[in-house]
Amino acid sequence: MKVIVCKDYAEMSAKSAEIVADVMKNKPNAVLGLATGSTPEGMYAKLAEMNKAGEIDFSQVPTVNLDEYYPISPDNDQSYRYFMNKNLFDRVNIDKTHTHVPQGSAADGEAEAKRYEKFVRSLGGADIQVLGIGRNGHIAFNEPDTELVPETHITSLTEDTIDANARFFASAADVPTKALTMGMGTILSAKKIIILANGKGKHDAVMQMLKGTVTTSCPASFLNLHDDVVLVCDEACYNG
Ligand code: F6R
Repeated sequence: MKVIVCKDYAEMSAKSAEIVADVMKNKPNAVLGLATGSTPEGMYAKLAEMNKAGEIDFSQVPTVNLDEYYPISPDNDQSYRYFMNKNLFDRVNIDKTHTHVPQGSAADGEAEAKRYEKFVRSLGGADIQVLGIGRNGHIAFNEPDTELVPETHITSLTEDTIDANARFFASAADVPTKALTMGMGTILSAKKIIILANGKGKHDAVMQMLKGTVTTSCPASFLNLHDDVVLVCDEACYNG
């Protein structure tokens, strides 16, 4: 795994945007695998700036996101679809019909997981997959466990995650209890992977991943099975 340590969040965002932009410049219809969360917000802002400046073009780009709550409406401001529209899709010249997020409003979640897996595979996987990492080493909604699921699947959120998210929803009953998520195999089908991490809180998970071994207790460690992964982090994360 290649490691790029940046001074701070701004530099990490600029560096990661540059890596994504390079893939887009080499292949105008590159499939972008995208993540939500606070980590990539700066990178998305940078990509939007580059698009506005005419440096990159999203007109032919399809995107596939890692995950989505289930069930949830795309109009819910906590949905990952809403996040992506707000942070990237509404700010660049992308064709919205080319943007794909697992459908949190699908009537049959299991069927949606199967459909989404098939769809991502039909694109040949992402040309570049952007990832964040959880403090516990999770990737998308693949949480540490005794076993991990390779393909897109429905997973139950941990009590911790439900509690942590409750404040964002109108009432506790509105918090989705499940999520649709790519599996580690879906993620590893990407041709190139870039994983972003900033802040002290991510230090332990990142160090576990950088050990180079593979363990289901740190899903991010599975990235060691891929031969084109770049970690872009800030000094606070790297030095702990
Ligand atoms: C988001 C996702 C999550 C986040 C992770 C880090 O699509 O899959 O695994 O990447 O929880 O979240 P932040 O960036 O908010 O620290």
